[in-house]
Amino acid sequence: MAVLAALAAAPAFAGPDQAKQIVSTNCAACHGADGNSHQPTFPKLAGLQAEYLAKQLEEYGDGKRKSDIMGPIARKLKPEEIRVLAAYFSAQTPAPGSVEDNPLAEHGKKIYLQGYSDAGGASCSSCHKPDGSGTDRFPRLAEQQRAYVVQQLKEFKRGARTNDHGRVMQVIAGRMTEQEMKAVAEYIAGLSSAQARR
Ligand code: HEC
Ligand code: HEC
Repeated sequence: MAVLAALAAAPAFAGPDQAKQIVSTNCAACHGADGNSHQPTFPKLAGLQAEYLAKQLEEYGDGKRKSDIMGPIARKLKPEEIRVLAAYFSAQTPAPGSVEDNPLAEHGKKIYLQGYSDAGGASCSSCHKPDGSGTDRFPRLAEQQRAYVVQQLKEFKRGARTNDHGRVMQVIAGRMTEQEMKAVAEYIAGLSSAQARR
């Protein structure tokens, strides 16, 4: 009990204020202060599941997910900082995306909701949810940057990204053509949904 009391009385050194400070100096330039990046190849982080965000930062740090940009940044983060950063970005409101190419998005909608024969019928919505809001294991995709989505699908396909549970994404992306990747990314860019359930 004495230990618990001491902990409760300790100053809250790792909280939202600490997260804001780290974000403004280390993350905002690329991901936006509120996690809504404006750069097509920098992912939006707003509204992504905290569990997913923390997992990615840990895996960039230990090299399980490879990125020349994020590796060195994540290696410097302490576990406590990862926790507050994940909570911070998860609590931000995702900015709505938009569709630029309607016929392409229509093609993507079929793939997203119904799957396609070569993928053995696996629809994206069966894991990432019909509205793209995702779950703790299967990340939010709604309104994500289209260029980033295509890039990740390509990396799963060529085995450069291998940190997916059970290699499901490597198998699924491995059966997609580049045109199918672009189509599904166009649909995802325009998907808007309520914030991720946490
Ligand atoms: C110089 C630009 C830059 C900075 C600064 C930066 N990032 Fe990133 N971030 C990227 C890029 C590019 C990617 C995609 C990398 C890849 O291909 O895996 C990324 C990916 C991520 C992802 C994975 C997102 C997903 O959807 O899987 C997380 C989480 C993340 N960054 C968090 C952070 C945090 C937290 C900070 C600050 C401590 C930060 N980033 C600073 C450019 C940046
Ligand atoms: C069987 C479940 C499952 C299905 C079906 C599925 N995914 Fe995934 N998806 C995952 C998992 C697991 C991850 C990786 C989580 C991690 O890295 O921790 C993931 C990650 C992703 C990412 C990376 C997100 C990011 O922010 O970096 C994209 C993009 C993606 N999936 C797109 C799709 C698309 C498009 C489809 C349909 C063609 C699809 N997924 C179908 C389970 C699934």
